[in-house]
Amino acid sequence: VSRHGSPATGTPARLDVNEATGRLTPATTTFARRLADMRGMYRDGEAEARLLADDPLIYEVFQYDVPERTGELFVCTTVLQPGRVGDEYFMTKGHFHSRRDCAETYIGLQGAGEVMMMRDERCETVALAPGTVAYVPPHYAHRTINTGSSPLVFLAVYPAQAGHDYASIEQTGFAARLVDRNGTPTLVDRLAPLS
Ligand SMILES: [Fe+2]
Repeated sequence: VSRHGSPATGTPARLDVNEATGRLTPATTTFARRLADMRGMYRDGEAEARLLADDPLIYEVFQYDVPERTGELFVCTTVLQPGRVGDEYFMTKGHFHSRRDCAETYIGLQGAGEVMMMRDERCETVALAPGTVAYVPPHYAHRTINTGSSPLVFLAVYPAQAGHDYASIEQTGFAARLVDRNGTPTLVDRLAPLS
């Protein structure tokens, strides 16, 4: 994680999104996650091990920080690369919000993918593409998945006090996974055998 400055102080701001790269400017926090940063999160361990030799970039986040207090909103873009680990599409780690009563919204900017959401161990997906908005209600874990052949770029807006609970997902994962079945994104149970 790279922090380039202190949170904005509640003054009006204009943010620019680079159409080619998805980079948000100004961004005060940026980070990248490579496959090694999410070891064990994909279902095909052998495919993961093979890919780890190159340790591909999976996604980058560019965030405009604000003070973490009620009423403020974080804004960030995510650039999620296309690719698969075995038959499973590249995806973000996914998280619950530490404060479960905080929602989030994703605005699609480039590419094609899905937002997986889970509550009480039940998963559903909402498509994300330019011109669509995915709404993540309070209490739902959420992760984005690139089902296309180009980077999936989206803008996220969420309450500054939301916080991130990655641990719950790192420990038990989502109840379902999105895999490529003959070119069609298909939702399968997390315990489904490898084909
Ligand atoms: Fe979130």
